[in-house]
Amino acid sequence: MNIHELPGYKGTGFLKILPQLYKNPLSTLQKTVSTGERVIPFSFGKYILFLINDPSIIQHILKTNYRNYPRGKALEGIYPLLGKGIFTSDHELWSRQQKNITPAFHTKYFTRFGEIIDEECENFKSELEGYCKNLKEIDLQERFKVLMLKILVKEMFSPDLKFDAEDIIHKLDTILAYTSIRGELIRNVKTGFKSVFGLKYTPPADYTSALSSLEKFVAGFFKQVENGEIIPGMLTGILRDLKNAGEVDDIQIRDEIMTFLFAGFDTVAEGLSWTQYLISTNPGTDEKIIVELTERNLEGQESSPSSLHMAPETPYLRCVISEALRLYPPAWAFYRIVIEDEEIDGLFFPKKSYLMISPCLLHRTPKFWDQPDSFNPTRFEGEDQPEVNNFSYIPFGQGPHICTGRRLAMFEMLRIFSVLTPEYKFIYTGDNPPEVDPGIIMKAKNGLRFKVEKRIK
Ligand code: HEM
Repeated sequence: MNIHELPGYKGTGFLKILPQLYKNPLSTLQKTVSTGERVIPFSFGKYILFLINDPSIIQHILKTNYRNYPRGKALEGIYPLLGKGIFTSDHELWSRQQKNITPAFHTKYFTRFGEIIDEECENFKSELEGYCKNLKEIDLQERFKVLMLKILVKEMFSPDLKFDAEDIIHKLDTILAYTSIRGELIRNVKTGFKSVFGLKYTPPADYTSALSSLEKFVAGFFKQVENGEIIPGMLTGILRDLKNAGEVDDIQIRDEIMTFLFAGFDTVAEGLSWTQYLISTNPGTDEKIIVELTERNLEGQESSPSSLHMAPETPYLRCVISEALRLYPPAWAFYRIVIEDEEIDGLFFPKKSYLMISPCLLHRTPKFWDQPDSFNPTRFEGEDQPEVNNFSYIPFGQGPHICTGRRLAMFEMLRIFSVLTPEYKFIYTGDNPPEVDPGIIMKAKNGLRFKVEKRIK
């Protein structure tokens, strides 16, 4: 079908914008939505991709009729890494996985998660002391990734596992580089647009070798959990019990663990890094956070980790994080496929077409946000969990597939800033504004560099 024949659309030839899209995917897409269209169709060959930039249509796709819009083939490119884990599955398999895995995030475990975060923050503080002394710059994107991987592994895989965090991160980065928009474009161009996402192509050697050593790492530590050599984490404990009950096999276990490695630390690390960038570049923000934390501590509330994820006692810090996730949502875009033709609000979506939903574009659309490019945490004042009901604000997705780890992610970020902000001042020294690199996760192209100073109490 030709997009110009579709009722309600003007249509954008994909090939026309391809060179800009390759050079700068995000600003090209930003320009495209600046026309105010609710849905922008792109055609490539017989394929159509709709970029959806309208909260009510998003609500329909992600919630009201979500069964007609699974992730399905839209995520094919990432199957070699995630297999049929909870992030890539749909329908019955996904329902079962959700039922099995959600208990790993029960609030009763948040006291334990809080202890793990505190332990790792202590190690991180020793590292920061070194940076304070020798006045060296630090790339927080990199350092927060290491911190968050260590926390995730202790929480979910095993508190005893010894591993090389930087090596695992390097392997994951190698794999994800080939699944980013730019990676997809390169592959599409090389293979003559045979398919939009996830092509039959021969992956490069560094990708294949990174994937196979990551698989060895995962299989190795799960065996140790099974043999009782190391204590299980919340996820591996659940998976071991399911395996003993004959409900999952080794392939499914591999896929779930890979999914957590993919979704559970890099996202939070980027959330932390962009939040710190905004705190550091908006004078007065850190002082307000410190005043709020001091008042909370005076009231003796600091030892209440299970309530901290709701953060009734640090509402300003929560607003700062929510605002950072609005301006720089780490999961900046996600995809769906249309199963059956459907018309939504007068717009027609033919079956087999792809849908792209971008929190990043939506969060900066003037129709839905007052002064969308400004940092204004107070816009979230009085909202306990703005990400749950508002379809103009979707940093964690929405509907039944909303991020399983969102409460943990908020808890981790709140806890880490509660520990670090009163003790250290991070002075931003990098590009201003930073150039954004929208891979699978939204990063700053040249890192986010800071100098660190110890605060005088
Ligand atoms: C700031 C941090 C995070 C952000 C911004 C984020 C964002 C997202 C988004 C946007 C989705 C939905 C994607 C879609 O609908 O296609 C999602 C799903 C998911 N996330 Fe997160 N995430 C974060 C942290 C975490 C953490 C810490 C974990 C686990 C430890 C996690 C595990 C998952 C899983 C398992 C799904 C799939 C849910 C399902 O389909 O049922 N995420 N995340």
